[in-house]
Amino acid sequence: MAIQRVGVVGCGLMGSGIAQVVAAAGFETTVREVNAELVEKGLKGIEKNLNRLVEKGTITDAAKGQIRSRLKGTTSIDDLKGCDVIVEAIIEQLPAKRELFSALDKICPPATIFASNTSSLTITEIATATKRPERFVGLHFFNPVPVMKLVEVVRTIATDPAVYEEMVAFGVKLGKTAVRANDSTGFIVNRLLVPYLLDAIRALEEGVGSIEDIDNSMKLGCGHPMGPLTLLDFVGLDTTYYISQIMFDEFKERRFAAPPLLKRMVLAGWNGRKSGRGFYDYSDPANPKALKF
Ligand code: CAA
Repeated sequence: MAIQRVGVVGCGLMGSGIAQVVAAAGFETTVREVNAELVEKGLKGIEKNLNRLVEKGTITDAAKGQIRSRLKGTTSIDDLKGCDVIVEAIIEQLPAKRELFSALDKICPPATIFASNTSSLTITEIATATKRPERFVGLHFFNPVPVMKLVEVVRTIATDPAVYEEMVAFGVKLGKTAVRANDSTGFIVNRLLVPYLLDAIRALEEGVGSIEDIDNSMKLGCGHPMGPLTLLDFVGLDTTYYISQIMFDEFKERRFAAPPLLKRMVLAGWNGRKSGRGFYDYSDPANPKALKF
């Protein structure tokens, strides 16, 4: 099957990034949000990103126009029924994802391939909300999607090998390095990243070093683009807490257990950069200040 039309459900941080790279790769793209304000907000963010690329000379103004013309926003799920592939990037909650895919399954032709961008839920459990688990994969992108070069392509025991290969090739067409992963909670990246991030919080709790010193150690000592506590603020402390709970529930291993400090920061609403405060205070976003605990 030649993939031409792609649907993206959800136009938040991840969905808008996915819609941008899909349209930039030449696919007719329809992105769906639950109301007109969210559609507009998502498309405005994409417009801003594309303008930045034009200003930097990465793409021409004409190329930007073509990308925009391939990209349509909608609030109606029915507008996705002509899509060859649908990528879901909605709220990270199993019932919401199952409900969405069950509805899509009823309106889409049997050939349509479904993909979820979940970072920690079990693909098999989402796929079984449809009558086509053999045409269901995980496509896990990384934030910021237009910049990060990886996509994890996840197969379940039910995924048709031909569909899987098609989706690996689709990931490559999006300009990403597509790695193959089985449907194990957290796949490859979060399996390794989450214990590392949680350990950075434990090191802080135990007074091994300050926020800045822990971050600088991993940035300068290991060449990471961000230190772990900065990365936690970037990913979102609430998101990390949620992922750690799912992973701990699956593996029952301490390395996936949320440290008490993480839980308390989330309870206090200190969710990182998006809430203005996490391990750093973002009152002046260009000059974050590490908190003292
Ligand atoms: N959208 C689009 N482009 C962006 C962007 C965004 N939100 N943020 C930065 N960029 C672009 C910039 O325009 C710039 O482009 P050029 O090189 O073409 O000029 C480039 O990215 C570098 O940006 P900056 O110079 O402003 O800043 P930087 O060098 O510090 O890079 C970063 C920013 C790319 C975010 C980098 O710090 C980084 O790679 N951090 C680690 C991010 C990471 O690990 N993400 C994965 C999180 S885990 C996850 O997403 C999965 C999960 O399940 C939790």
